[in-house]
Amino acid sequence: MIQGGRPLNGEIEISGMKNAALPIIFGCLLVKDRCVIENLPVIDDVEVALNILKDMGAVVEKINKNTVAIDATEVKGGSSSVNLVRKIRASYYLLGAEIGRYGKAYVGVPGGCDFGCRPIDQHIKGFEALGCTVRMDGRYVTASAPQGLKGANIFFDIVSVGATMNVMLASVCAPGVTVIENAAREPHIVDLANFLNTCGGQISGAGTDTIKIKGVDSLHGCTYAIIPDMIEAGTYMIAVAATGGKLKITNVIPKHLESISAKLCEMGVEVEEGDDFVTVSRCGRISKINLKTQPYPGFPTDMQPQMAALMCLADGISLLTEGVFDNRFRYTEELLRMGANIKVNGKTAMIEGKVALKPARVRAVDLRAGAAMVIAGLATPGKTEIENIYLIERGYDDLVGKLRLCGADIIKIKELED
Ligand code: UD1
Repeated sequence: MIQGGRPLNGEIEISGMKNAALPIIFGCLLVKDRCVIENLPVIDDVEVALNILKDMGAVVEKINKNTVAIDATEVKGGSSSVNLVRKIRASYYLLGAEIGRYGKAYVGVPGGCDFGCRPIDQHIKGFEALGCTVRMDGRYVTASAPQGLKGANIFFDIVSVGATMNVMLASVCAPGVTVIENAAREPHIVDLANFLNTCGGQISGAGTDTIKIKGVDSLHGCTYAIIPDMIEAGTYMIAVAATGGKLKITNVIPKHLESISAKLCEMGVEVEEGDDFVTVSRCGRISKINLKTQPYPGFPTDMQPQMAALMCLADGISLLTEGVFDNRFRYTEELLRMGANIKVNGKTAMIEGKVALKPARVRAVDLRAGAAMVIAGLATPGKTEIENIYLIERGYDDLVGKLRLCGADIIKIKELED
């Protein structure tokens, strides 16, 4: 429950990145040794990923709130719980990790946010190029490589974060050289490559559209710290743009935030970059912008709903185009309940800004959509209640606590079951 209409002021420290933590946790399956992973965010998706590995026989030891040691030496391949796997999208990384470790995989079909059809054909194309035969029925994906894995050249038809990381996981120990072309360039791709290289892998080119992987015989344990979460940081940047006030957002890599900072500046928000922080402030009115989401370094699709909430408060009509997923505007119906003026036509939303929204009872339809409702609630005087907050807690570390420290009147009134 949010009593909105208060500015945000103060400092927020950003946690480790969800979408880097998850492939790295599953990447530990490739290592018959102890890996210590630091700067893990305290979020439900990480908990589920750790439980999947634990359930398969890994020794998972919590060293402190953000540090976990994982030893997957005794893990039995193909033994993951279908009920746990279907809770998160990122469990598709088990496929790449099992293929990389055992030369075969047996994993339930992954879950995750519903943005329309989310195929994994490019992941499968990559595994097949490495020598796997892959079968998919409604419940399970099965892969096997009777002749063993072999490095290959793979040209993805589309830029896919998941497929790029999955092929890295499957090929890091495959004999020969694998080259991925038209690879995704997100910072979490670089983070996974850095983790695997710290374990003895030989991956170069991560962060560009061509990644080269020289297969190594085995990986060894390491200590590795996850990069900061650019989507969490971007969410608080937009929150203060919506409420007014001034936030220092710390433990970030400002370079990763450039597409977000640029768009906020275009709207009239002030963004100052430090070495590992950004300061964001807004005093006057904000103006409309046009924006299209794209793979990195473009504006991230995972910031699209939060930006829509901000556009509802801007002067003029903004055009917001989704360039990555088929259907990521379901949440706009919730903003309509708050009096927003949004018309969706295919992959573009036309958002007419208003001076103020009105408070309402709304729901989180997915993780980032939930964050958008929090932003709308914070910016709107009166009581906004948000249902299904378990979806927000999948990906935001202590969102309520961090916002309260900066002056937000937000409380969790009920624990809801998944
Ligand atoms: C990951 C992130 C998600 C983010 C997205 C884009 C995780 C767990 N999830 O999702 O938060 O929004 O990247 O930055 O890290 N596609 C295909 N075939 C495939 C794979 C993808 O057609 O085999 C399509 C998708 O449907 C989508 C586009 O390609 O339209 C991009 O998807 P992708 O980059 O793979 O996103 P995810 O890995 O699912």
